[in-house]
Amino acid sequence: MRTKGIIIGMAVLLTACTARQSKELNVSRELDYCRSQIERTLQETGNKNQMPQNIADSLNHWKTVDIAISEWVIGFWPGILWYNYEHTGNTTDSITADDYTHLLYPLTQLPAYDHDLGFQLFCSYGNAYRLTGNELYRQIILNAADTLATLFNPNVGTILSWPREVEGRGWPHNTIIDNMINLEMLFWASKNGGSPKLYDMAVKHAETTMQNHFREDGGCYHVAVYDTIDGHFLKGVTHQGYADSSLWARGQAWAIYGYTMVYRETHDKKFLRFTEKITDLYLSRLPEKEFVPYWDFDAPTIPNEPKDASAAAIVASALLELSQLEDNKEKANEYKTAAVNMLVELSSDKYQSRELKPSFLLHSTGHYPKGSEVDASIIYADYYYIEALIRLKTM
Ligand code: GLY
Repeated sequence: MRTKGIIIGMAVLLTACTARQSKELNVSRELDYCRSQIERTLQETGNKNQMPQNIADSLNHWKTVDIAISEWVIGFWPGILWYNYEHTGNTTDSITADDYTHLLYPLTQLPAYDHDLGFQLFCSYGNAYRLTGNELYRQIILNAADTLATLFNPNVGTILSWPREVEGRGWPHNTIIDNMINLEMLFWASKNGGSPKLYDMAVKHAETTMQNHFREDGGCYHVAVYDTIDGHFLKGVTHQGYADSSLWARGQAWAIYGYTMVYRETHDKKFLRFTEKITDLYLSRLPEKEFVPYWDFDAPTIPNEPKDASAAAIVASALLELSQLEDNKEKANEYKTAAVNMLVELSSDKYQSRELKPSFLLHSTGHYPKGSEVDASIIYADYYYIEALIRLKTM
């Protein structure tokens, strides 16, 4: 049953046309909805060294992934459980979150397979430490940050994202835009007992990426390829987008989320101005009167292309934070309104899975060119959705 709770609504906005007027969102009700879907998932999957990953369009049950496979998504389910604990405050919920978080421990003892350590270990252990202050978690994250730092190439000024693609695709030093998210763990470590060099690496990565990874209009490539030795930018290409120069929705979402976080950590205005530029491009290209993008803004058969709810959830969460960091009141309002509108749309019967499936959301697209996770429920869409709801609740 849908219950009453905190209602967030926004006033009519003064100017910006991208802002549009936001509708009402019952944050407590949506968080309770997430809690009930989590219960269903726990009953369905059990605690068997498996993390929920996706539910295909045609199916009703989670496909899980074995933690030993080190998939990039394995930290999202523990992260969801921590956000659920933040909502409920129930000790049993923290015990469940802790159980799943500890499943990732073996990963913390390995050398870096690729850049995804931040996704895997900061969404899980990062939230665990934030909510409990447990010293063991702090040590694990510090260790993970040092491991991630081994992929930093000072000749280029970025972290190598995919070591296996150096040979595999002939991409000497490759950095994908998603890598921006992993910088948060480096910033965090530098403030919590780790080396100050981790801060410098994160800033350098953000600066180098800002310089090379984006086109004139603020749209990003998925992958930037650099010369390993002299560090010069060789080319920008895609992996999961429609074309090298197209605007892949989730790639732009990672950029918005990443640069918002970099501005929060550095207070350097150049990052704020840049975040505005890449955000404004994203907002200006959303479909008319809609807040969930197609999987790629340049996909050839729009409107007959799948949507990507995960991109909307990532951007909603980012814009809630950006609206609080803004030095321009009008833009702050614009971004908050846009974020609420995204959450309203994601919370509608079109996007919520409800009785159909135990996930929170439908209609995300993981890897369209590979035909994988197209129009599916995907665990990271759920993660950023619940994160955004929690952010809105605590704002
Ligand atoms: N980090 C991979 C993706 O966004 O699909």
